Amino acid sequence: MEIIIVENYKELSQKAAEIFLNQLNIKLNSVFGLSTGSTPVGLYNKVVELYKKGGYDFSFVKTFNLDEYYLISSENKNSYHFFMNDVLFNHINVDKKNIFIPDGEVKDCDAFCDWYEKEISNNPIDLQILGIGENGHIGFNEPGSSLDSKTRLVDLSPETIKINSRFFDDKNNIPRQAITMGIDTILKAKNILFLASGAKKAKAVYDMIYGNISLDCPASALQRHKKVLVILDKDAAELLK
Ligand code: GLP
Repeated sequence: MEIIIVENYKELSQKAAEIFLNQLNIKLNSVFGLSTGSTPVGLYNKVVELYKKGGYDFSFVKTFNLDEYYLISSENKNSYHFFMNDVLFNHINVDKKNIFIPDGEVKDCDAFCDWYEKEISNNPIDLQILGIGENGHIGFNEPGSSLDSKTRLVDLSPETIKINSRFFDDKNNIPRQAITMGIDTILKAKNILFLASGAKKAKAVYDMIYGNISLDCPASALQRHKKVLVILDKDAAELLK
């Protein structure tokens, strides 16, 4: 893993946006793996800002999102569909038919997950954006997830439900499950751009980099990947030597 430590969240977002847009410059029809949560918001904002200044074309790009809650409607403002449209897709010229996000309402989950996995195999991800949960999860691969896991329906841990409840007005209506790319799916990306900000992530980041590869910290599986760029702000890096 290559690790870059920057001063703060603003710098992290700036650096990440440069790498994101550089990928687009290298390959006009890049396939991006996208992540949600608060961490990549600054990256997406910066990408939109630079796109609006001109010179970038997303019309040949394909995107695959890591995960989506289940059950949730794509109209729900807490869905990752809504989030992605709001922060990125509504502001750039990406072709809607090239956007792939797990379906939070699909009836036949197994068939859907097989299809999603095949679409990713047929369109290998050039650059996967990743964040991390406080318990070391990537996507919604919670501790205990198999390193060979593929796209599937998972139960969320009580800790993740509690942490993510900050976004939901109605705390009784927080989804207990999600569809997520598996760890193996994520590791198939050609390049991974991993982002973490804030002291709450410091322990998970430490375990990811220095811990044994273990089901207890799903992000530790990234040690197996040859091209992971880790960008941390100082607080997320505070436990690193
Ligand atoms: C969710 C997402 C993850 C994300 C994590 C951290 O659980 N499924 O992909 O990395 O939250 O989110 P945040 O950046 O808000 O801390």
